[in-house]
Amino acid sequence: MSGGERIERTIGILGAGKLGTVLARLATAAGYRVLIAGSGAVDRIALIVEVMAPDAIATTAEGVVAEADVVILAAPLGKVRSLPLDALSGAGAIVVDATNYWWPVDGILPDFEQAELSSSEIVRNLMPGARLVKTFNHMGYHELDTEARPAGHPDRKALAIASDDPTALMIVAEVVDAMGFDTIDAGALAEGVRFEPGTSAFGATASRVALLTMLEAGDSPAVARGRMSR
Ligand SMILES: NC(=O)c1ccc[n+]([C@@H]2O[C@H](COP(=O)([O-])OP(=O)(O)OC[C@H]3O[C@@H](n4cnc5c(N)ncnc54)[C@H](OP(=O)(O)O)[C@@H]3O)[C@@H](O)[C@H]2O)c1
Repeated sequence: MSGGERIERTIGILGAGKLGTVLARLATAAGYRVLIAGSGAVDRIALIVEVMAPDAIATTAEGVVAEADVVILAAPLGKVRSLPLDALSGAGAIVVDATNYWWPVDGILPDFEQAELSSSEIVRNLMPGARLVKTFNHMGYHELDTEARPAGHPDRKALAIASDDPTALMIVAEVVDAMGFDTIDAGALAEGVRFEPGTSAFGATASRVALLTMLEAGDSPAVARGRMSR
């Protein structure tokens, strides 16, 4: 979508639900080869992939991790331990964490009750070799689907992005740009708390300038998490 010369990459998506299928469609539209998997056999997602993202290739989770240059986690956080964690960790893969600790849906997850860590740091600790980048999590799937715009478009919206690995962040920012969104570098993975559920930025479909203001509101994890009643 940025119109520039695109590096050929394979994007893998773990999760073929609401978010995963929209991201698959955006990534194929951007010209990437896209592999997508659900939790089980390929034939269980064949129809939804054909309808929602016809140019994506349905495969298994193991197939996604084996072939993709960038793997996007688009499964519920409560299912994170069912992902191929060793494979994700082993190859120094670039992994995009699009998940949220959304306890009204996921219930209380003891793994994610460590108030001093961002949820993406906890995900990274489950796959310590992965080069984790947090993004795509704070915008709803419907808005991701309808708000993608080419670079420079006056109505373009922005996504916050965070990582402890500057090179991985740069590569993922390039992918996000190609898929139709600006990015705002929020800093290290620990800064992911500034766009977790409960923050001003969570749920935002906003321009770069407006999102920057929300991120600078400086919600601390305690404040942000406290806003979500249990
Ligand atoms: N919905 C949104 O607007 C939105 C926006 C941004 C971020 N997110 C985040 O994205 C994540 C997914 O949300 P969603 O709304 O897309 O959920 P969803 O519609 O329920 O889809 C979840 C998908 O994950 C798959 N899955 C579960 N375990 C898996 C595994 N081990 N390997 C591969 N796939 C697996 C499920 O497959 P099966 O059906 O086979 O179990 C299903 O296809 C959540 O963490 C959410 O917070 C959602």
